[in-house]
Amino acid sequence: MTECQICGGQVTELVDFGRQPLSDAFRVPNDSSEEFFFRLAVGLCDSCTMAQLMEQVPREKMFHEDYPYHSSGSTVMRKHFELTARHFLETELSGPDPFVVEIGCNDGIMLRTVAAQGVRHLGVDPSGGVAEVARGLGVQVRTAFFEETTAREIAAEHGPADVVYAANTICHIPYLNSIFRGLDALLQPSGVFVFEDPYLGDIVERTSFDQIYDEHFYLFTARSVRAMARRHGFELVDVERLPVHGGEVRYTVARAGSRPVDAAVEALLAEEAARGLGEPATLRAFGDAVARIRTDLVALLSELRAQGKRVVAYGATAKSATVANYCGLGPDLVEFVSDTTPAKQGRLTPGTHIPVRPPEAFAEDHPDHALLFAWNHAEEIMAKERTFRDAGGRWILYVPDVHVV
Ligand code: SAH
Ligand code: TYD
Ligand code: ZN
Repeated sequence: MTECQICGGQVTELVDFGRQPLSDAFRVPNDSSEEFFFRLAVGLCDSCTMAQLMEQVPREKMFHEDYPYHSSGSTVMRKHFELTARHFLETELSGPDPFVVEIGCNDGIMLRTVAAQGVRHLGVDPSGGVAEVARGLGVQVRTAFFEETTAREIAAEHGPADVVYAANTICHIPYLNSIFRGLDALLQPSGVFVFEDPYLGDIVERTSFDQIYDEHFYLFTARSVRAMARRHGFELVDVERLPVHGGEVRYTVARAGSRPVDAAVEALLAEEAARGLGEPATLRAFGDAVARIRTDLVALLSELRAQGKRVVAYGATAKSATVANYCGLGPDLVEFVSDTTPAKQGRLTPGTHIPVRPPEAFAEDHPDHALLFAWNHAEEIMAKERTFRDAGGRWILYVPDVHVV
């Protein structure tokens, strides 16, 4: 039996993706050291409905000096976080001498705008390489895992925070009870905790099963987030759906009674109830849809290989580790993966060992088909790669189902 990491209730396993590697552990060719694998499966807590992984990967294996994900690789995301920073500067951070803490600041994609305005801030991120990039942009960063002790230290050194913000990070943290105890110590009485992560509602609706991997420990809903906040004397006061990364929700949490609850919260809770999002049957049906995608994708790629077509992939995303390993996509079906991240280039994808090459390799010799692993950046990438399409190239997508465009 697996215990819910939030409430201690029983977690019922619902979808099994089998043996998976660390999603961001791109391997050096000819590395003979043993690769780490774990069993990726997701379940729902019978009592608080929190969707979570059945097995935890130790955090130091995922987030360290060489963590290769750089948030600023996407123009759309740079814009998104610049607007986010401006929004905070005009609202919660417009009083005298405000202070904002970001959990998982990565390469400074959001805080650079805050730093440029001379506003007091602190990023916290355990991945030293990306933190160093942020420092180069004038961002204050503490290389550490944010948890209760870190929060208490920050409060003692800098005083209370008006805003604690996190994007695509809170879902990475199994020990959220520690985070909430830390927030209680760090936040101003009237402060807010704002975080945005992939939304289970979108994942189920689009069958975007590749949002499930080692780093994404939780798949949130308004219902599960509200229950979690309430356990710690906080309340979910606002929700906002975001189009980024295939569909996310931005949750605003405040001390209970300190702020009115926006009508958007009840509206999303009602929608979730109507869709049965917290129910096992919904995730079981999702699992069936995922299995169909595997069948269809393997059939398509095998047929293209039989026809002698060249197929490459685009975007060495962490998400694609789940797709590639679950579907068994190796270099026999996918020639290489094109990716702009220098730290990933020249390496092999985790588990499936497909070579990662720079975008020049894609541009120099266009393949017949490109499997869009970075489907969440489809608009940006398809616009950038118009010549591929014009030359007769075709994109293969597997979300919400397998199709060629
Ligand atoms: N906010 C960025 C980065 C997301 S990647 C964006 O939205 O693009 C997740 C980041 O969380 C990584 O940089 C990782 O190092 C960091 N992280 C993981 N666990 C953390 C923790 N306990 N405290 C702070 N950062 C953490
Ligand atoms: P992303 O989907 O943002 O996240 P995750 O790794 O968490 O699944 O990753 C996008 C990857 O795609 C990243 O390695 C950079 C790469 N990429 C390109 O190669 N070209 C592009 O134009 C964009 C937007 C991303
Ligand atoms: Zn629970």
